[in-house]
Amino acid sequence: MDWYALAKPILFQLPPETAHHATVSMLGAGLGPRVGIPPDPRLRMRLGTLEFAHPVGLAAGMDKEAEAVRGFARLGFSHVEVGTVTARPQPGNPKPRCFRLPADGGLINRFGFNNHGAAAMARRLDALGARPCVLGVNLGKSKIVPNDQALDDYRASVRLLGARGDYVVVNVSSPNTPGLRDLQAEGVLRDLLTGIRAELDSVAPGKPLLVKIAPDLADAGIDAAVDAALEAKLDGIICTNTTIGRGGLSYDEQWVAERGAGGLSGAPVRARSTVVLARVARRLGGRLPLVGVGGIDSAEAAWEKIGHGASLVQVYTGLIMKGPWLVRTIVDGLIDRLDRYRIATLADAIGREL
Ligand SMILES: Cc1cc2nc3c(=O)[nH]c(=O)nc-3n(C[C@H](O)[C@H](O)[C@H](O)COP(=O)(O)O)c2cc1C
Repeated sequence: MDWYALAKPILFQLPPETAHHATVSMLGAGLGPRVGIPPDPRLRMRLGTLEFAHPVGLAAGMDKEAEAVRGFARLGFSHVEVGTVTARPQPGNPKPRCFRLPADGGLINRFGFNNHGAAAMARRLDALGARPCVLGVNLGKSKIVPNDQALDDYRASVRLLGARGDYVVVNVSSPNTPGLRDLQAEGVLRDLLTGIRAELDSVAPGKPLLVKIAPDLADAGIDAAVDAALEAKLDGIICTNTTIGRGGLSYDEQWVAERGAGGLSGAPVRARSTVVLARVARRLGGRLPLVGVGGIDSAEAAWEKIGHGASLVQVYTGLIMKGPWLVRTIVDGLIDRLDRYRIATLADAIGREL
């Protein structure tokens, strides 16, 4: 019996943010299920020096405060990306700030990096002790800090957290901090990433550093972000964050407009995220590994990302829509596909559709 079929309607009766906190608290208290993922060497992935048991990880924003890393690891994720965390504590946007679009398998959110700040995160990661899986730390800019001081703000977070995660992500793609995505502009991004790289190398030499980009960049902007990541000697690119677009929804336009600003995630962003991922992959030609995220709620969707250049994949909205066995379902489906297409390892499947 899939108890999520029973739990989901109850959770979906609650406001989304309440359901989110209830779930994360439950997982943090060790009350979630333990989903076994049989180890299969064909699924192993590498990102620089990091090794992953399989490609499926938890995307940033679900465990913003690193409250339930162990609980999410028990759902089978090979990696958990905590955050987005900012140097300064901040409350985020006024509530309500998250809305479900169940008919389309989507969410709209405008949380705006609500978090207790990098120092609090550092304390929580210290208390976590031995890591149950690979741990990424996703960093954002504090809202009150203007863009021309963004580097110093990211640096402050890097000093506190750079050595505490297995990899670090620079988030310049959330639509919910005014002006944040402007940091993706060509020269601005290169200087920002170069500065963060230098800071990270001083606190944790060689620690993998990635940048997470938006699905709403025009082609030239995507290319510029790739070039900036290369010039700044990053270790990977995460494609993508949520979209400010509202295309392809079955809901009444007026109803959607009334939900207000925010990033749209889940199935509605899947195709666009894959287009961006593929463009990044083609431009990189294998020079950096990629993480595919956006609308993954099945093995088929994960396979699509891998085929379009992703070494790792991450899920957020799909977990809410499909429930705690999603990682197992995806992993099993990936193994099926390797067998079906007679591909030796998942690494051999990366970029086959490009
Ligand atoms: C409610 C919510 C909060 C999010 N918060 C963050 C965040 O703090 N930092 C971040 O980099 N991405 C955040 N994201 C974006 C996700 O990590 C992911 O990139 C995006 O939702 C696409 O994946 P999905 O379709 O599987 O949800 C958030 C997404 C949602 C739905």
